Amino acid sequence: MQGAARNFFSLAILYAIGGLVLGLHMSITHDHGQMPVHAHAMVAGWLMSSVFAFFYHLFPLVGRSRLATVHFWLQGVSGVALVVGLFFLLAGNTSVEPVVAVSSIGFFAGVLLFAAIALPAIWREPAQMERRIPGSALQES
Ligand code: HEM
Ligand code: HEM
Repeated sequence: MQGAARNFFSLAILYAIGGLVLGLHMSITHDHGQMPVHAHAMVAGWLMSSVFAFFYHLFPLVGRSRLATVHFWLQGVSGVALVVGLFFLLAGNTSVEPVVAVSSIGFFAGVLLFAAIALPAIWREPAQMERRIPGSALQES
């Protein structure tokens, strides 16, 4: 893996470790108050970042583009701020609410940017890919 694929998969693993530690803590203490943080860390963090990683792995040229780097940082920073902000919000610290609100919008903007990156890539003519990556597996698709 390279570029955005490697970055997203590294981030996914960090979400999985953090989210699972929280899930175990909730189970052991029988306090499920942080359930939304665990749920978002696991699904919006671990699973979505993995999907982004595998997309960029399938489209390596796209994964090394400047736009993919912008996507990684927008999705990554807003996602982590969302999950961490939500943790403190649910712990009773209402002053972090603007952080959660802004990061939610940032996270959504990241998905819109991903749509703008991914849709042209998946609809591109296979012949165009062949010219750009001679000898790659993309020639067969
Ligand atoms: C060590 C493994 C795990 C433990 C101990 C754990 C623990 C928990 C606990 C205690 C809850 C709260 C249940 C409730 O209050 O109704 C929960 C909810 C949830 N967990 Fe986990 N979890 C684990 C792994 C995972 C994984 C691997 C995923 C997804 C990839 C996941 C996704 C979710 C989701 C989406 C919810 C919210 C479910 C709902 O809306 O009712 N969890 N988990
Ligand atoms: C813009 C970002 C997002 C916002 C503002 C948001 C907001 C919310 C809210 C308000 C709830 C209800 C929580 C509750 O009743 O306690 C919720 C639940 C949930 N969301 Fe999200 N969400 C976002 C993104 C996502 C994404 C991207 C995923 C998955 C890919 C996701 C998966 C879930 C799941 C599994 C639940 C049920 C677990 C729970 O009740 O905590 N969310 N979300």
